[in-house]
Amino acid sequence: MARYEIIGGTPLRGSVTISGAKNAAVAILPAALLVEGVCRIENVPDISDVRILLSILEGMGVKVSRPETGVVELDSTNVTCREPETEHVKKLRASYYFMGALLSRFHAAHVALPGGCNFAVRPIDQHIKGFKALGAAVEETNEYVDLQPGVNGLKGNRISLDMASVGATVNIMIAATLLPGQSIIENAAKEPHIVDLANFLNTMGARISGAGTDTIKITGVENLKGGTYAIIPDQIEAGTYMAATAATGGDVLVRNVIPKHMECITSKLEEMGAQITNYDDAIRIKMDGRMCNTTVKTHPYPGFPTDMQAQICVCMALASGVSRLTESVYETRFFGYCTELQSMGADIEISGKTAIVTGVEDLYGVTVSAKDLRAGAALIIAGLAARGTTWVKNIHYVERGYERLIEKLTALGAKIRRVED
Ligand code: EPU
Repeated sequence: MARYEIIGGTPLRGSVTISGAKNAAVAILPAALLVEGVCRIENVPDISDVRILLSILEGMGVKVSRPETGVVELDSTNVTCREPETEHVKKLRASYYFMGALLSRFHAAHVALPGGCNFAVRPIDQHIKGFKALGAAVEETNEYVDLQPGVNGLKGNRISLDMASVGATVNIMIAATLLPGQSIIENAAKEPHIVDLANFLNTMGARISGAGTDTIKITGVENLKGGTYAIIPDQIEAGTYMAATAATGGDVLVRNVIPKHMECITSKLEEMGAQITNYDDAIRIKMDGRMCNTTVKTHPYPGFPTDMQAQICVCMALASGVSRLTESVYETRFFGYCTELQSMGADIEISGKTAIVTGVEDLYGVTVSAKDLRAGAALIIAGLAARGTTWVKNIHYVERGYERLIEKLTALGAKIRRVED
């Protein structure tokens, strides 16, 4: 077990380079199972979720190599295994993408139910609905999902999602890529990593259009060939460093971002008093004085992301006035960190889907525990801004999604270190 020790009170200053997007990488790596040939994937973040996925792929017979930092080469040509290793599958959420990938490539899959951050009940009924629409016979138990061709065989179809689910959109897009005929996903999710996955698959020979809108068309192709693809920068990692800069009253150039993806976050931080300058692939954020209150409601992209809810809550906790933060994707997400922030002195009252946050002048360092990835990120930001020393426990959650976090924060002047218990 390890924890972070943070001595708060130093404004972040300097520049930080954002890594490849976690939620794009965790979709693209399983999707590489569709490719017969070598996929060279660049800008792959070195985080524990990616390391677990690579072990699963290796266990299935994929040739995995890492010729240089940030680059992974995968060759799935000789894979025959249809059952990714259960112990690893249960460690992360994105392992459900093996269902779509195996159905597409081998027309059958047997995959344990995924694990991952448990900040809410996270059903997969929309994924299953999609597989059934594509012609799969589905056996679902409390332990696994088994997919086989149904009586009429597997082929493209029209699927209208009940909600714009990221996971279901990804899984159905992957599954339909190698099935005959055309599939149409209606009410599709529009997050940047959906577009990134479509671009990856198209680079390898798929025929997908409309990604980034609410209607995605997939025309099945017989096979995918190898190629090279670079993953987009991580919108949420960038947002996390921006929130940390605002909370500590710092001045940071956040490099390797796509400013368009950041608009929903930058506009809220601007409302709170931050000065934002956009460049082609970087954003400078500077915060002088105290932040002011605001109102935020999370929404699927292009709205304010639920994955930034906890980090903006820390900014609200230190801002002047009363802020309102409403969650519309995962109602129970507040419970992962609000009690911990309260123990640091934050004034947060939760009323249904809304947190009413009355800003305080200071937070104080105590021992807190991360309950999921973004909750952990928020506690680190709180620790960086707080008076005194904060210890953040359960940091394995944070290490699932933030590459070289200590190194990057230290370069910005933060006093943070990883301590083995
Ligand atoms: N939902 C259903 N049925 C489904 C699928 C989703 O009811 O079959 C509901 C969920 O319960 C939720 C909403 O639909 O209320 C949206 O869920 P979605 O499927 O979009 O989320 P996800 O695919 O499970 C991904 C990210 C999450 C991120 C959400 C929302 C990955 C691996 N995970 O989860 O990322 O919070 O989209 O943007 O891409 C994180 O990075 O910290 C993280 C949790």
